[in-house]
Amino acid sequence: MAKYRIAWLPGDGIGKDVTDAARIVLDGLGVDAEYIHGDIGWEFWCTEGDPLPQRTLDMMAETDCAFFGAITSKGKDVADKELDPELQGKGYSYRSPIVRMRQLLDLYICLRPCKAYAGNPLNYKDGIDLVVFRENTQGMYIGVEYPQVPEEFYAVKGTEKLPRDAAISFRAITPGGSERIVRSAFEYAVKHNRKKVTAVHKANVLRQTDGVFMEAARKVAVEYPRIEFDNANIDAMGMWLLKNPFNYDVIVTTNLFGDIISDLCAQMVGGLGFGCSGNIGQDYAVFEPTHGSAPKYAGQYKVNPIATILAAKMMLDWLGETDKAAQLEGAVAAVIAEGRFRTYDMGGESSTLDMARAIADKL
Ligand SMILES: NC(=O)c1ccc[n+]([C@@H]2O[C@H](COP(=O)([O-])OP(=O)(O)OC[C@H]3O[C@@H](n4cnc5c(N)ncnc54)[C@H](O)[C@@H]3O)[C@@H](O)[C@H]2O)c1
Repeated sequence: MAKYRIAWLPGDGIGKDVTDAARIVLDGLGVDAEYIHGDIGWEFWCTEGDPLPQRTLDMMAETDCAFFGAITSKGKDVADKELDPELQGKGYSYRSPIVRMRQLLDLYICLRPCKAYAGNPLNYKDGIDLVVFRENTQGMYIGVEYPQVPEEFYAVKGTEKLPRDAAISFRAITPGGSERIVRSAFEYAVKHNRKKVTAVHKANVLRQTDGVFMEAARKVAVEYPRIEFDNANIDAMGMWLLKNPFNYDVIVTTNLFGDIISDLCAQMVGGLGFGCSGNIGQDYAVFEPTHGSAPKYAGQYKVNPIATILAAKMMLDWLGETDKAAQLEGAVAAVIAEGRFRTYDMGGESSTLDMARAIADKL
């Protein structure tokens, strides 16, 4: 029996292209794992009314962790039309499977390292090396939304002037949820010899929700006197990150702000072809590239697999296979530095699988 059982979830579009590439390097490393395919994505919404079928969740429950490619999501109007006509009008409602997975499995950390590998022509500035900790289960993504103001809502003080046709989204942030994400960021800083943690918020406007987040952040920070702690408003942070990315080390923030800021950080180190991500809970984790299914490139084996291969490196670290993880990162760094293999986004013509094979050859 293999040492690890890994749920293998390619998903839609280029999800298959990039996970095929990741398998080349995992096999090249000789990882002792069994990969179990799971159904996920748009196709299963259309045919079954569920993009994350229960059988996939059941299979995941029997595995150590999951590796995910990408999915296609579409707006409500399109989703409703593309659902099998036999299922329409029966109460099916589309929800992003990745957001659902994060909440169902309580994968409260979204860890997104952003490192500018030497020789990458897409680096904004050489030497950038940031890590974003995004809270992954609360905030604006709790999924409590209304297409218009519910009547009973007007009983809440301060809502009297809300127009009836206003769509409403709830933002929920708890002290416990905030403390655990901030503590994870500090623990990471200690373990990886990082010097500073920056909490990002908008507490001057979102006084209650981000007030809770910042109170928790300040409380946790005093437990780590050797790590510098500072904070910034999300809007200013966008500006400061571009102006001087070297002022930042570990960034911790709430769900929506983390979603945005981590894409900005990913862009500074090469864009979507380089953004990798770990959704991590107490006992389970799902690793993925941050990009989507890029339908126009699906099946062409043209896109950059490095984001997904770096997600495999994160998975190996999480599994405790730190030597293999370091070996893999070294191979990625060597191929980027050499510059012989480059996918279209890097200005080259290498295919997804050629890039993966070049990395495997360096292992
Ligand atoms: N986690 C996820 O699965 C996820 C994330 C974002 C978007 N999506 C979904 O993906 C679909 C397409 O969304 P989108 O077009 O806004 O974003 P996308 O990330 O799929 O692609 C946007 C563009 O970025 C480039 N790109 C993406 N990945 C790349 C790679 N590995 N190498 C080189 N270039 C790459 C391509 O030019 C692509 O057209 C939508 O249905 C969206 O909802 C899913």
